[in-house]
Amino acid sequence: MKHTFPENFLWGGALSACQAEGAYNEDGKTLTVADVMKFDPTKDRKSKKHVEITMEMIEEAKKDPDTIKYPKRRGIDFYHTYKEDIALLAEMGFKVFRYSISWARVFPNGDDAKPNEKALQFYDRLIDECLKYNIEPLITISHFDMPVVLIEKFGGWYNRKLIDLYLNYCNVIFNRYKGKVKYWVTFNEINMSVRKSVKTLGIVNQGEDNYKEKVYQGLHHQFVAAAKATKLAHEIDPDNKIGSMVAFFTTYAYTCKPEDALQTHFDNQMKNLFFLDVLNKGEYPYYAKTFFDKNNIHIRMEKDDLDWIKSHPADFVGMSYYNSTVASSNPEKLEMTSGNVHSVHKNPYLPHNEWGWQIDPIGLRYTLNFVYDRYELPVFILENSSGFLDTLNEDKTVHDPYRIDFLRKHIEQMKLAIEDGVNVIGYTMWGPIDIISSGISEMEKRYGFIYVDQDNYGNGSKKRYKKDSFYWYQNVIKTNGEEL
Ligand code: BG6
Repeated sequence: MKHTFPENFLWGGALSACQAEGAYNEDGKTLTVADVMKFDPTKDRKSKKHVEITMEMIEEAKKDPDTIKYPKRRGIDFYHTYKEDIALLAEMGFKVFRYSISWARVFPNGDDAKPNEKALQFYDRLIDECLKYNIEPLITISHFDMPVVLIEKFGGWYNRKLIDLYLNYCNVIFNRYKGKVKYWVTFNEINMSVRKSVKTLGIVNQGEDNYKEKVYQGLHHQFVAAAKATKLAHEIDPDNKIGSMVAFFTTYAYTCKPEDALQTHFDNQMKNLFFLDVLNKGEYPYYAKTFFDKNNIHIRMEKDDLDWIKSHPADFVGMSYYNSTVASSNPEKLEMTSGNVHSVHKNPYLPHNEWGWQIDPIGLRYTLNFVYDRYELPVFILENSSGFLDTLNEDKTVHDPYRIDFLRKHIEQMKLAIEDGVNVIGYTMWGPIDIISSGISEMEKRYGFIYVDQDNYGNGSKKRYKKDSFYWYQNVIKTNGEEL
């Protein structure tokens, strides 16, 4: 029998600290941008409008200890339930668990002389718990949880000082987890920074004319920080593997009109490739320079910044894949639907979920081939899945054939991509345990194989229940992807 997946293929799932941990003010942790995002029950689920965080929102949130309005503050209480939760992941046979460390826990004041030992002890326990089950911990260093203090004291990543603060943080965790953690991701979905600049860069729009320039300047600082972190990680432990990470916005031409094809190409460049070109190829591409000129963006660089970027590219390409979109030379004529983080043009050939996100498994195979063709580096699918509304039945079962169907179709396409020759090294589906949604702070937008009995307002026993998909994924891992 022919086996597609390599024996050491990393099957697993991914969560982030700010959507799972809760305990938002325990053991010295300070507020993050995730803790100031409200759940708005009046908001239309398919709403395309992203509410960007303002200084007023931060001020209001600082005075308000509420955890109902601010659901990420309570998460799913993973800070206290991680043992029981990781045991469930182990029962599914996870080979890898992608999780993020909270910067605001480790450095609560941003520029503390020493890290917060209590926070590190929590991550020690969590990582050891994974290792106990032979689960490879894959750590995201920054996942949508900019510490508020870094915004207030320094203005976020616009300030070059953030590079040193980030490296100091990296130095602490790289040393502490040497020999325990091998896979690291520097910044979650770094390309989101252009659309969700506070969440990722901590750069608040205060009405300045050059806001866009500030965002790309902040991004440049992250690129330099990623290169320096890569060097540091390799020095501390040559076995360390550092990943880039973009939310891949796969884009097709709406028609075969040459103008549409050209537009697709341009969209793809600045939405996806720019970020991977810098992080994985180690250079600012020519089209970025054109884009900066057109938009009157001037990036301040220190003399060896480009050398750093060139000399220390990431070891693998990390990406999330949720949905695809289309591009047209006449975009105003296209219908819109919502998508991961921003609204996208609707593709008439694709169905969508309750939140309007289009479902496109073939897009995954297309994207994997596209990315591998360009970078020729191992590719890690760091997030993939879809939010669904689940029902917990009286007998505590959850029948979720729609989730199985979604994941099966995507894994089938990943399998075909591997047969095409793409070197895919792992797959961490997004949200193996239900968590608070990032974009809309709902609990009921569920991703998990494991149901968490908690509603949008924090009501419920918080107990965990295995959904049908739990057993399905368990078998996928057990058969190394042969039985889907
Ligand atoms: C990704 C993020 O963009 O999308 C995750 O990395 C997020 O943090 C996921 O949860 C799904 O988005 P949402 O808004 O449905 O939680």
